[in-house]
Amino acid sequence: MLVITKLIDVFELKNRINIEKKSLGFVPTMGALHNGHISLVLNSIKENDYTIASIFVNPTQFNNKTDLLNYPRTVDKDIEILEKAGCDFVFIPDLNEMYPEEDTRIFDFDGLDEVMEGKHRPGHFNGVAQIVTKLFEAVKPDRAYFGRKDFQQAAIINFLVKKYMPEFNIKIITCDIVREKDGLALSSRNILLTPEHRKAAPIIFKTLNLFSKVYSDIKPQKIIEKVTNEINAVELLKVEYFEIVDNETLMPVNEIIPGKTTGCIAVFAGNVRLIDNISF
Ligand code: PAF
Repeated sequence: MLVITKLIDVFELKNRINIEKKSLGFVPTMGALHNGHISLVLNSIKENDYTIASIFVNPTQFNNKTDLLNYPRTVDKDIEILEKAGCDFVFIPDLNEMYPEEDTRIFDFDGLDEVMEGKHRPGHFNGVAQIVTKLFEAVKPDRAYFGRKDFQQAAIINFLVKKYMPEFNIKIITCDIVREKDGLALSSRNILLTPEHRKAAPIIFKTLNLFSKVYSDIKPQKIIEKVTNEINAVELLKVEYFEIVDNETLMPVNEIIPGKTTGCIAVFAGNVRLIDNISF
């Protein structure tokens, strides 16, 4: 696997791939890779001639300095994991490479960024868009792979490529959430959990799963109440939000329409913020 650190080398690589008339799949990450990331890489390998991943902890998407400082960084191990998975290239730029000067661009997502994660992490999706557009402009992939755990991010990136870079014709592929055996959604942040919080965390998915099945015929507001109360009853967990939204508009719904509605949750397990979601 070739490790690339400069944008100019990514441009050159893409030119060579174009000359070969081959397709390129892209898996952008912030590192601390787990099986969720690997499933994205494997999907990309299946659907493209070449696969490139990137590892860059993007400071502009962190609205909280401590969160940025604590974000796990395991680059050497990540390179090994990608190599073993069969990834062809990995782009690992430094801060100066991606932000030689301050990025002052402000994106308009037509309200998609004003709910849930966007509401609780102001500026987060603008930062995601800043780095993703820079990466997409360099890599120019045919397909880019994102995890469904970041449900709102996937919706916003879909909107972003259509509105801001239609000429790139990048297909956004959203892949299923990968879970631990006990149901906890894989996340780079899981390694920051204390043993006690790690033990409590699977209750998040268990509760989502239970209430989405048992109560799918009652009003969303009632399900929200029940899920929130059930999780908050666990001393080590604190729900930040739980919303049941339309898959396209991300707006809260008054009625569940199977296949078109998703329940999205953010929960604090101690200092670690976990997100998850479930389709209704
Ligand atoms: O999902 C992530 O890991 C990040 O938000 C992304 C898409 C790599 C941008 O930094």
